[in-house]
Amino acid sequence: MRKLLIVSNNEHKVEEFRHLMQVNRIQRDVVSLRDIGYVQDINETGATLEENAMIKVDALKSVWQEDILADDSGFEINALNGEPGVFSARYAGEHGNHTANIAKVLCEMESKLDRKAQFRCVLAGRWKGKLFSIHGVVEGHVLRAVQGWGGFGYDPIFIPQQSSRSFAQMSLEDKSLLSHRGMAFQNWISWIRRFEV
Ligand code: IMP
Repeated sequence: MRKLLIVSNNEHKVEEFRHLMQVNRIQRDVVSLRDIGYVQDINETGATLEENAMIKVDALKSVWQEDILADDSGFEINALNGEPGVFSARYAGEHGNHTANIAKVLCEMESKLDRKAQFRCVLAGRWKGKLFSIHGVVEGHVLRAVQGWGGFGYDPIFIPQQSSRSFAQMSLEDKSLLSHRGMAFQNWISWIRRFEV
């Protein structure tokens, strides 16, 4: 089977993509950077999610000949002027320290009445030789305290619109139906279907 490289070592994310590929019946063996033994750091120095997603694709496109899918996502909070945004992974300083990032958001948001926020995802990559960059968004609210323990990142403090559960209280399947990555993925599926016929 042809392979699709996900430019990430985040196993939660790779699992989400594997699930999305399966339910959409896209036949690819989904592999991560770890699976292919790629250990170099990719410096995400872009000023936007779009730039960072493309930096990941550029880093891999000469060393990996099959299809590539990279994503960059951010948590954007209205009352914080769109922060943490492109800094979501390292909002509290240390890259990937989700507990500290959540604590910082809850602290910054303590006195804020406007709780509106969104996750935004940019998917970029190369599919059958063609480059793409596609978006997905999910709107919702920032909670006042952690609710649930599943998922990763800011999942425990985000409730999507028209839901009573945080992302951290949802199964992978339910989260994927609503999430920014799920939305971007659906948009991407529509795009790739054009080349399947
Ligand atoms: P990435 O660019 O997709 O790796 O995302 C950067 C950061 O945004 C992550 O480290 C998380 O803090 C946050 N983030 C991205 N996607 C999600 C999600 O689905 N749930 C919660 N947090 C997320």
